[in-house]
Parts: sequence; structure tokens; C-alpha cells
Amino acid sequence: MAFSSSSCSVLLILTTVLYCASGFEFQVGGSKGWVVPPANDTNIYLEWASHNRFQVGDSIRFKYQKDSVMEVDEEGYKTCNSSLPIMFSNNGNTLFTFHHAGSFYFISGASGHCQKGQKMIVRVLSNDDKDDSPPDHDKNNNDSSSAFPPQVSLIVSHIVFFVASLVI
Ligand SMILES: *[C@@H]1O[C@H](CO)[C@@H](O)[C@H](O)[C@H]1NC(C)=O
Ligand SMILES: *[C@@H]1O[C@H](CO)[C@@H](O)[C@H](O)[C@H]1NC(C)=O
Ligand SMILES: *[C@@H]1O[C@H](CO)[C@@H](O)[C@H](O)[C@H]1NC(C)=O
Repeated sequence: MAFSSSSCSVLLILTTVLYCASGFEFQVGGSKGWVVPPANDTNIYLEWASHNRFQVGDSIRFKYQKDSVMEVDEEGYKTCNSSLPIMFSNNGNTLFTFHHAGSFYFISGASGHCQKGQKMIVRVLSNDDKDDSPPDHDKNNNDSSSAFPPQVSLIVSHIVFFVASLVI
């Protein structure tokens, strides 16, 4: 019947939208996790971050042992200064969710690790930037201006559409 197949496809769309809105989870550094990089390859986290696309709602998981992770500001990142972290965690399994677009700076809080390259910049795109605009583009977006993430209005419009299709 036309009715059931159309409501099925709407359900499918709805599920897809909800799934996308819940965000992806990335494991920092892949299977190696969050460790001091090898001395001959200190850029592993910058490379890892540049090979992934992060959007608002996505999260990253840090897995480590006898170490810690801090979110710091740009200055703290450049100088490996761990005295004023925005976020600190040392539970070995830290999940960090990006609630807004922009640049996020992470360093290890363990003594000497940041200097050895255990640090990372993640650039998070707003959900409007679906296409291949360069990450630096986010400087032009006013982070604080969106009270509701775009995905919320998307979901609402799909729910309205779904309900409407049931009524018809
Ligand atoms: C770093 O050194 C290790 C062992 O010495 C070697 O296996 C690896 O290929 C080197 N990596 C790079 C990027 O040179
Ligand atoms: C680290 O940052 C704090 C706060 O901004 C500052 O007081 C301190 O001097 C800095 N330490 C170093 C080594 O730069
Ligand atoms: C960002 O906000 C400021 C003030 O809140 C405004 O002057 C500026 O034009 C905005 N920039 C963009 C790109 O919307």
C-alpha cells in the first residue's frame, strides 16, 4: 500500500536525522589512544585531527593510562601551560563532546608529555558547513549566536512532516 511505504520511508528519514544529530564518536589517535608520540613522529595528533571532520554534536574519546587530558586555551596549548585548564580529566577514558563550533585545544597534563607532542587542535565545523569549506572559515561564525543547533529545527520539521503524513 502507498500509505505504509511512504510512512516507512519517512520513518527511515527520521531515524537517519536522529542518528546524525546524535553525533559521531571518534577515538583520539585510533587504536593507539592518547599517548606520548614517538620521538620521530611528534605530529601524530595534529595529523589524526586533520584527517577527520568534526561537527557540533560529535564527540572524541581519549583512552590512556597514567596520563590525563586537559582542554586549554590557545595560549596554554602553545606554551604547554597546564595551570588553568578549562577541562581536566584523568580517569583513563574521557569523552568530550563539541557543543559549539570553533577551535578546541587539548594537551596532556602529565609532566613533560605536552612538550613531546601529546597535544592536539581540533577544529569543529558548525552544522551549516556541510560542504568542503576550509576549517579556518569558522572564524566568521559567531559561536554564541545560535541558541538552538540547526539540527533541532531539522528534527522538528521532520517530525511535523511525519505526523502530517500519518494524517493524510
Ligand atoms: C620511527 O622509528 C621507528 C622505530 O625506530 C620506525 O619503525 C618508524 O618507521 C619511524 N617512523 C618514522 C615516521 O620515521
Ligand atoms: C601559565 O599560565 C598562568 C595563567 O595564565 C600564568 O600565571 C603562568 O605564568 C604561566 N606559566 C608559564 C610557565 O608560562
Ligand atoms: C559577530 O558578532 C558581532 C557582535 O556580536 C558582530 O559585530 C559581527 O558582525 C558578527 N560577525 C558575523 C560574521 O556575523
